[in-house]
Amino acid sequence: MRILSGIQPSGALHLGNYFGMMRPAIELQEKGEAFYFIADYHSMTSLFDAAQRRQNTLEVALDFLACGLDPNRAVFFKQSDVPEVCELAWLLSTVTPMGLLERAHSYKDKIAKGISPHHGLFAYPVLMAADILIYDSNVVPVGRDQKQHVEMTRDIAAKFNEQYGQTFVIPEAQIREEVAVVPGTDGQKMSKSYGNTIEIFGDEKSLRKKIMSIVMDSRTPQEPKPDAEKNLAIQLLKLVAPAEVAGEFENRLRAGGLGYGELKNTLFEHYWNYFARARKKRAELAANPDYVRQVLAAGAARARALAQTVLKRARKNCGLD
Ligand code: ADP
Ligand code: TRP
Repeated sequence: MRILSGIQPSGALHLGNYFGMMRPAIELQEKGEAFYFIADYHSMTSLFDAAQRRQNTLEVALDFLACGLDPNRAVFFKQSDVPEVCELAWLLSTVTPMGLLERAHSYKDKIAKGISPHHGLFAYPVLMAADILIYDSNVVPVGRDQKQHVEMTRDIAAKFNEQYGQTFVIPEAQIREEVAVVPGTDGQKMSKSYGNTIEIFGDEKSLRKKIMSIVMDSRTPQEPKPDAEKNLAIQLLKLVAPAEVAGEFENRLRAGGLGYGELKNTLFEHYWNYFARARKKRAELAANPDYVRQVLAAGAARARALAQTVLKRARKNCGLD
């Protein structure tokens, strides 16, 4: 089984990224041949600062390695070190109906937010399809917001196969229902673009402040709260604390008598502990950026060799070779 996923270097990674995509990907590295990459080409659709992209790429690599991506098990690389994906994206774009791209939620959402669209934003799912198909991937672990992109990949692959004969493996998204949408501090999906994130790594004081700012309602501590499972701090506590602890706090909240301050402090302590080992590892890795660059270069060499064989197959089948 080949597993593949990518993450954009568009800002500091947060709990939504971790529980929705990174942790499932890290767990899967034991179960098959994993390919994980930093989607720097994709980040060009929304980030226009060269120095920032370079910096973020290194930071994402540090985050992923610190959280447990094992470069001896998984092939870890930077998307743009395999420029063959751009050629494949062109091949795929010629069998991609305009209507398919026009229906993309993430594209429509961005337009709705007033972003003036460019061709790269529109073509984003075609490049993502190329990322997935060029490694003959079977399984793509992602959060729910990426589900449609993987479905589009399946459609595009099927179209190409139909037109030019069996060329691509049809991949499947793997979404963990319990963490498909991790809520942010305001209750919407946690996302860099909503300013409601709790980062995996960062300065203790500002992260404590973010946790203390999680939106609660105005009921008094004494009031029983029959909807305790919907409380945002409870939902996040379930991710970072042992089940008994989260269950106990949920029961206390339901019964009445637990104040939101105590709940948030507890959440902070568990969150801070949860990432303690990764934080230590990250500091060690950050002191040795050359090691990180070497890991990415070695990963790129392995990824590129595979990408070249799949691209060759596609070129042959469509009559370029
Ligand atoms: P953002 O919305 O912050 O820009 P990305 O789009 O870069 O995040 O997402 C990277 C990966 O993390 C994707 O697989 C995405 O599905 C997952 N992800 C992002 N936010 C969440 C969330 N709140 N809950 C679950 N998964 C998420
Ligand atoms: N679009 C994904 C995101 O924003 C990143 C990505 C690019 C990706 N190419 C991919 C994810 C291929 C999985 C497979 O999160």
